[in-house]
Amino acid sequence: MTPQTLAPIKPPVAETIAQAGRLLKGGFLVGLPTETVYGLAGDATSDRAVAAIFAAKGRPGFNPLIVHVADAADAPALAIVPPVAQALIDAFWPGPLTLVLQRRADCPVSLLASAGLDTLALRCPAHPVARAVIRAAGVPLAAPSANPSGRLSPTSARDVADAFPEDRVALVIDGGATPVGVESTIVGLFGDRAVMLRPGGLSRAEIEAVTGPLAEAGDDADAPRSPGRLLSHYAPGLPVRLDATGVAPDEALLAFGAGVPEGALVVENLSPRGDTAEAAANLFAMLRRLDRSGARAIAVMPIPATGLGEAIRDRLARAAAPREAPSREAAS
Ligand code: TXA
Ligand code: MG
Repeated sequence: MTPQTLAPIKPPVAETIAQAGRLLKGGFLVGLPTETVYGLAGDATSDRAVAAIFAAKGRPGFNPLIVHVADAADAPALAIVPPVAQALIDAFWPGPLTLVLQRRADCPVSLLASAGLDTLALRCPAHPVARAVIRAAGVPLAAPSANPSGRLSPTSARDVADAFPEDRVALVIDGGATPVGVESTIVGLFGDRAVMLRPGGLSRAEIEAVTGPLAEAGDDADAPRSPGRLLSHYAPGLPVRLDATGVAPDEALLAFGAGVPEGALVVENLSPRGDTAEAAANLFAMLRRLDRSGARAIAVMPIPATGLGEAIRDRLARAAAPREAPSREAAS
């Protein structure tokens, strides 16, 4: 068997952006930086490109994709934007917030991207490279996190290139480490209700300052099917043990703040000063390093639920969840 060539990495210069635009127009996939994590982007209006994203990730077809636009003004052509959604857009776009809205009847986005739902997840990323590539492509881009389904999300170009061969991903644009480090927060707008579907890079407190208290997906009987909240695994290879106050000599320790227990094989501290935004930015890269440390398991110190702590705890809980997947489980 000939070894597969890994996807090529290029710097984010004008020539690379133009090449990415041409590749995306031609139906190819491009790995690109956003402020949250790297995305695996394809033309959202092309069934073929969207199908190629599902195939490259090994992603279950019932789990829909987020569609990315370059400007907030591009949203109304794709989905119905109620006043509460517009208020969120005005406050937080471009930025790490995805809105699940009703698709317009004439929405040009592939139905595959919505996985058959009549809703569309829309986001306007804050990263200048992501926005430049969307503009160069001239179409909205479907872009899930650029990891094989169920694995840790990528926060560097190298993470993406190592995971995909060149015949799946034509190009990876290197924008450096992603500053936010966890995926966007997903809020569903169903009627006049705003529902938290996935905690992420924009804190609940900031969103609720605009919307008032968010409904929880679970206690909203009228909410449509919300794949974004199904149990999924942002999983390293090693088992993960949460809320550790002590550590075994053959364990790797993911620490947070002060009072770090002694005796681990290896330690990474998400934020020695106890800052949840710093911890989010470090989360996936540190999990990757600990995963390669030769330890038996990864023990994780307690993380507070404030700020971006809610998103960190969500990802860690999924990483620690049992690995045998129930049939409806969605990994993303
Ligand atoms: O920060 C992010 O959001 C990154 C970057 C690349 O933009 N993208 C990302 O995409 O995290 P992905 O595919 O890994 O996660 C998308 C989540 C999934 O949990 C999916 O179920 C949910 O969004 N989702 C997409 N469309 C939806 C819809 N119409 N209704 C409910 N959930 C939806
Ligand atoms: Mg994902």
